[in-house]
Amino acid sequence: MSQTTARPALPVAILISGRGSNMVAFIEAVAVGQLDANITLVLSNNPDAAGLARAREAGIATAVVNHRDYDSREAFDAAMVARLREAGAELVILAGFMRILTSVFITAFRGRLLNIHPSLLPKYPGLNTHQRALDAGDSEAGVTVHFVTEELDGGPPILQARVPIQRGDTADTLAARVIVEEHKIYPLAARWFVQGRLALSEQGAFLDGERLPDTGLAYRPGLDEVAG
Ligand code: GRF
Repeated sequence: MSQTTARPALPVAILISGRGSNMVAFIEAVAVGQLDANITLVLSNNPDAAGLARAREAGIATAVVNHRDYDSREAFDAAMVARLREAGAELVILAGFMRILTSVFITAFRGRLLNIHPSLLPKYPGLNTHQRALDAGDSEAGVTVHFVTEELDGGPPILQARVPIQRGDTADTLAARVIVEEHKIYPLAARWFVQGRLALSEQGAFLDGERLPDTGLAYRPGLDEVAG
């Protein structure tokens, strides 16, 4: 018997609003055995999210909770929480989910809720991150996986990948290079969670009982072998 049969795969839900390329990275990580998870649901606020079709093609259950059907953010969040509980989600992955969450949602999944943000947090929370890095004349850009707290893009970072900015870069060329790193670091951070090695406390994010730096661990190829 292999070790992985001792414990059932962790039920994971992924929230998307758009194309879902990070979601696909999760589906692939599960398929090749890099992530011992069971993606029980892909949930979107946007009925037209392209990622929904990609999830269905992979045989994953999908659902839409349309924010336009609710009078308040809290009511929308409560409906999503109910749907995620129904799906038995024990880890919730925000993957290009474009609605701001209230404490109704965040408290329901505190410590079990991850996001990926395309900047080197704490730089550039919010939108248009790559353009802002270019406008500021930065020499590098990047992406951060972090725990979600009430502070927008402000929860403790877990893992961060850096990408040099090249002469002539536009927001699009930069985004195209950053997304490659996104697809590596997000399933890796989730793997640590699934392995029971990653935790959120009042003091920050912890991996194997050690507090992570304020910008998260710096990703480099091979980190998964060393840390995993
Ligand atoms: C990514 O750039 C992610 O960092 C940000 O939203 C984008 C989602 O892309 N939060 P995709 O839908 O996963 O392709």
